[in-house]
Amino acid sequence: MIKKKLVFSGVQPTGNLHLGNYLGALKNFVSLQKEMNCIYCVVDLHAITTFQNPVELRKNVLETVASFIATGLNPSKSIIFNQSSVSGHTELAWILNCVSRIGWLNRMTQFKDKAGSDREKASVGLYIYPNLMAADILLYKATHVPVGADQKQHLELSRDIAQKFNNDFNCKDFFPLPEPLIPKNISRVMSLRDGTKKMSKSEESDYSRINLKDSADEIKKKIKKAKSDSDQIPDNHKELVQKPEASNLLNIYSEVSKISLEKVLNEMCGKEYSFLKTKLAELLIDEITPVGKEIKKLMEDKSHLEQILKKGTEKANIIAEENLKNIREKVGLI
Ligand code: AMP
Ligand code: TRP
Repeated sequence: MIKKKLVFSGVQPTGNLHLGNYLGALKNFVSLQKEMNCIYCVVDLHAITTFQNPVELRKNVLETVASFIATGLNPSKSIIFNQSSVSGHTELAWILNCVSRIGWLNRMTQFKDKAGSDREKASVGLYIYPNLMAADILLYKATHVPVGADQKQHLELSRDIAQKFNNDFNCKDFFPLPEPLIPKNISRVMSLRDGTKKMSKSEESDYSRINLKDSADEIKKKIKKAKSDSDQIPDNHKELVQKPEASNLLNIYSEVSKISLEKVLNEMCGKEYSFLKTKLAELLIDEITPVGKEIKKLMEDKSHLEQILKKGTEKANIIAEENLKNIREKVGLI
């Protein structure tokens, strides 16, 4: 049986989309749109697993849609919608809560990181967040999921849940086992201040990340201030192993310039990191500021963005309802 390929991915509307989201996910979303049917979801129900100011949340949902469009997603090709408008996500999440195992969730490193030392005070939603993520994907029977490396473990859990459902309800191949599509060269963009931590929206210092809406001046300043290394640029990547910040800057340069890391090192070895930083800032300004400008422009017409969501929701709901009908039947729900 040849299975139809279907791409699904989600981004949380928690503000400040950054270079990590862009290189780890959004750019991939856009290239996949050319070859497969794609569904891209603004996952507001995931966002509220940690408290969100309601006014900010509403704005951030629209800004995430604006970021999708500004990076090149086409709403007449891909389905773009927000999670809470399609109630099938929560219904399937409940069913999958009953398939997924506590032992599996206990292994999730993102929960441990996000809940921190006071785990008892984390929301129950944060704990079962990966089950909702599995529901997002399986509700559409998606086969491919473009994400950054930080989501790999959640994807593996989604596969385990799909497999257990297929076994429990004796319906081999009912849910496809979704495959992660993780960028090969730069699957994890690191913080500009600490190369051992990923670039993240929630990191306190704005100097740790390049936001898609940053101005040319901000990008220049942030790259200039980014941690690097006091040695000169080496001629091979083995010497970068103990130098996470230098390695991160070189990887970003290689990814955005589309020049292999090997070639970059060949060309730049022996030079100070300030040389790389000047080139990198120029490159990022060219790549990122047009996206930021477009996001701001799109945010001036909120009703246009709402219209995109409305149309996307209608399309998503049709697929979701059809699949849910079969899922309910498999489980024995009337
Ligand atoms: P989030 O903002 O957490 O919803 O993430 C949206 C997408 O961006 C997911 O596919 C993440 O894996 C990806 N992502 C987030 N941060 C990074 C990063 N620092 N490097 C690479 N990918 C990232
Ligand atoms: N958990 C993902 C993140 O934080 C977002 C997400 C929610 C997602 N549902 C998804 C990603 C389904 C891929 C598929 O980045």
